[in-house]
Amino acid sequence: MGRLTTLHFLLCLVTLPHVLAFIPTDLKAAFGFFGTSHETQTKNAIKLIWKAYFGEGAANIPTAAMTRALKEISGANAFVDEDQEKGELHFDGESFTEGQERLVDFANWTIEAVRNNDSIGARKLLGQALHTVQDFYAHSNYLEMQLAAGSKKLVPHPGLGIEGTMFHPLAKTVDTCKPCENSIQCTEGCEKNLLPAGLTSGYYGGEPNYPKPSKFKCSHGGFLDTSSLLFGAPAVYFGQGINKDSKSCKFSPHVDFHDRAAELATVATRLYIINTVTSKITQQQRALLFGTDLGAYSLWNDYPEWWDYVDDFIKLHKREDPTIVHRRATALRKGWHTFVAAKNVHEHGVALARAVARDKFHPLQFVRRDLPENLTDYSGWKDVATETGGHVIKIGENDDIEKTADFLKMLSQPDFAEILSVAGVAQKDAVVDFTFSIDSTLESLLFSTSGVGSFELFYPDGCRYPLDPSANKYVHKRELSDNIAVNITSVPAPGAYKISLRCNGDYTLSISGNSSLFLAGFQFVEIRGRPGHEGAFPIFGSPVTGQSSLVEAYVHGNFTDGAFEFRTKGNEFIVEQSAIKVDTEVLHHGTRFEGESTPIPTDEFMVYMKGVNDKGEEFQRALIHMISPSHVKLSLPKAEAAMLQAGKVATVPVTVLNVAEFDDTYDIFAVDEKDVITHVSQNQMLLKAGETGTFDVTMQPAQDAVVGSNHILVSVKGRRTRGNKAVVRAVIHPEPTVTPDSEITQHYYANETEQLILDMIEQDNQGKLLLGPDDFVWGVEVSAR
Ligand SMILES: *[C@@H]1O[C@H](CO)[C@@H](O)[C@H](O)[C@H]1NC(C)=O
Ligand SMILES: *[C@@H]1O[C@H](CO)[C@@H](O)[C@H](O)[C@H]1NC(C)=O
Ligand SMILES: *[C@@H]1O[C@H](CO)[C@@H](O)[C@H](O)[C@H]1NC(C)=O
Ligand SMILES: *[C@@H]1O[C@H](CO)[C@@H](O)[C@H](O)[C@H]1NC(C)=O
Ligand SMILES: *[C@@H]1O[C@H](CO)[C@@H](O)[C@H](O)[C@H]1NC(C)=O
Ligand SMILES: *[C@@H]1O[C@H](CO)[C@@H](O)[C@H](O)[C@H]1NC(C)=O
Ligand SMILES: *[C@@H]1O[C@H](CO)[C@@H](O)[C@H](O)[C@H]1NC(C)=O
Ligand SMILES: [Zn+2]
Repeated sequence: MGRLTTLHFLLCLVTLPHVLAFIPTDLKAAFGFFGTSHETQTKNAIKLIWKAYFGEGAANIPTAAMTRALKEISGANAFVDEDQEKGELHFDGESFTEGQERLVDFANWTIEAVRNNDSIGARKLLGQALHTVQDFYAHSNYLEMQLAAGSKKLVPHPGLGIEGTMFHPLAKTVDTCKPCENSIQCTEGCEKNLLPAGLTSGYYGGEPNYPKPSKFKCSHGGFLDTSSLLFGAPAVYFGQGINKDSKSCKFSPHVDFHDRAAELATVATRLYIINTVTSKITQQQRALLFGTDLGAYSLWNDYPEWWDYVDDFIKLHKREDPTIVHRRATALRKGWHTFVAAKNVHEHGVALARAVARDKFHPLQFVRRDLPENLTDYSGWKDVATETGGHVIKIGENDDIEKTADFLKMLSQPDFAEILSVAGVAQKDAVVDFTFSIDSTLESLLFSTSGVGSFELFYPDGCRYPLDPSANKYVHKRELSDNIAVNITSVPAPGAYKISLRCNGDYTLSISGNSSLFLAGFQFVEIRGRPGHEGAFPIFGSPVTGQSSLVEAYVHGNFTDGAFEFRTKGNEFIVEQSAIKVDTEVLHHGTRFEGESTPIPTDEFMVYMKGVNDKGEEFQRALIHMISPSHVKLSLPKAEAAMLQAGKVATVPVTVLNVAEFDDTYDIFAVDEKDVITHVSQNQMLLKAGETGTFDVTMQPAQDAVVGSNHILVSVKGRRTRGNKAVVRAVIHPEPTVTPDSEITQHYYANETEQLILDMIEQDNQGKLLLGPDDFVWGVEVSAR
């Protein structure tokens, strides 16, 4: 975008919050590319971790689940920049002791979450810790000290985040910086402003726990840091400091060190992950953490109580009174799916199940027994199945548990890429056709339907593909009253195929396949953060009808051309998304797309990608979840909602903006998986067109709550519009610890950092420098530039 004027900066100064970090994400839309982001550092480090633990093949062609794991970790990392006041999250203001305690706690909690098989919680915790690790190198002078000592190799600090190791800052009275030679401009700067006192980091105006103690302590620096003007410093000192966050001297006085800081931070990220987390867990737990354990899915053996429940479902004599309302559904989350067996579940439980499935990118398959419609009301579940790309799966009187399991097993293919996901209503015996592309990256295909009596498949030339398992050894077929599932294990020649469904009324169809070419993400995002540090953060809830939204998307695999489009759930084309374009610079986990959507449709829609692969074949992929646009915008301070301390009360204000052109009354509720919500301040709200309202959600996890994730759903349902629902993935954690002196085996004093560096240079010269438990080569060659 256009060049920024000083006036623009000053406006931003008062209107935008600041964030203290390397740039959080790979966003480019707003102010250009200003360096190596936290996101990129994290991804580069984790790719090497994959290679070490899972082999080169897995690292080079990661699966959708691995890609998602990586995105969850890097997203949690970027998220730390939402907290603008706690210096220790960013190692600001010489917060070395507090930052170190934080890293030790987060490693402990990550391991605890992994041990509880809570991969989401573990990824969120790890990602947040990595942010602090990376900021150590951007905000302290550790890198400058290594360079000053003549290190040939830049080596991470050996104690960072290590249990039993404590950091001690310089005294408040020790001077660490002098004024820069000139006021900061892009040509001459602050590279010699450090005093040789030891390890220090910059103070930032606006961090109440770390006020700058004197004029001669370093500032973070940059145009938005007011701390350089404290103690009566003249105006020319404005912006002076030592941060290496970006490649823009307006934000980073030590801009010349940015690339090296980012490289060192990337090595340190890997070191921290290995030393503090992955060397202490089993290979199976590593696989869980990084999304590579897909081989371990056996539907039948897991969750025996779930199968008992389904068995009871089928057996007539065991059936309960259908009018009883149960609080929760019984869910089996396996492979890439959530299977829900449920009797009458309260509306809130249905909404939560849907929110969790959506958040995990699972389709939700709703398993029900085949009863007359008037006996139970399944409508809520049916909608959820349709919206998430699943089916209503009917179990008939004559189906037994083995047959049911066999059917569900065929559906529960982990990691399959969605090709087509439709729902509709047809007359009984009506034939409905859809065409879709098959490309040669597909290794197998899975067709599943509900409300369909039978279906046929046609080659591009119109001939019928043999779907009879007795005539085609590549075809497997399972049926359960109203549902059909067919897999084809040898995919026919590429081209445009047609499927013809013979319908029974309401129907759903899903076509998916195993492919190295897949849509790894598509998110509506918004820009938050100060100029030069903006990140692309997912919006809270659904996008708003009629407004365009920034989109970030990732596509994995090889293709030469591709574009997104919106379609109805009935597969009718709505509009092409030609402004969502390939970003040619970020290639670390597939191809990144970024751009503005067209104005968001009024009705629910699907996102598709169509393109041409590297063999010249057309391909199609779908985002499995339907998008439900809203006339209400929801927002909340995420930093406060996302980390919940056991036993501690947290009150989070949720802001509701009615963007419709008419007044509406909203019914409000909030639910969560672990029952931490104790109060919602209002259950109803009337908002005039354009009006904003606020309600509070109060939460208190139990004192003895285990470490782990908790999905919190906030729902605001309009009487005149469908309203909006949004999910916060919170992590419940114990009270932070303070390491007792008796457990500290290694003290690092800031005034002794130079000696530490000299010792490491000596060890390196003797070929003995080893910081990790494995035979990795640590460090970045200084001579490389
Ligand atoms: C985490 O810390 C708690 C309390 O100090 C301790 O009991 C537990 O063993 C630690 N867990 C790990 C994985 O280090
Ligand atoms: C975690 O999953 C593994 C493998 O499925 C299982 O053996 C173990 O019991 C589970 N642990 C917990 C705490 O649920
Ligand atoms: C449900 O409908 C059937 C026939 O349509 C009827 O015989 C039955 O009594 C109804 N059951 C209830 C609980 O209303
Ligand atoms: C196809 O279905 C058969 C029978 O359920 C199953 O054994 C096989 O693993 C499935 N193959 C794929 C690729 O889904
Ligand atoms: C999907 O493809 C991958 C890579 O070829 C393979 O390892 C995996 O077993 C396949 N999965 C299925 C269910 O076919
Ligand atoms: C993409 O193509 C390159 C070059 O042919 C190949 O090395 C790589 O494995 C391919 N990636 C995938 C996901 O197939
Ligand atoms: C560094 O500071 C610590 C604590 O203030 C002190 O005990 C130690 O002697 C100092 N080391 C040097 C080399 O001055
Ligand atoms: Zn930061």
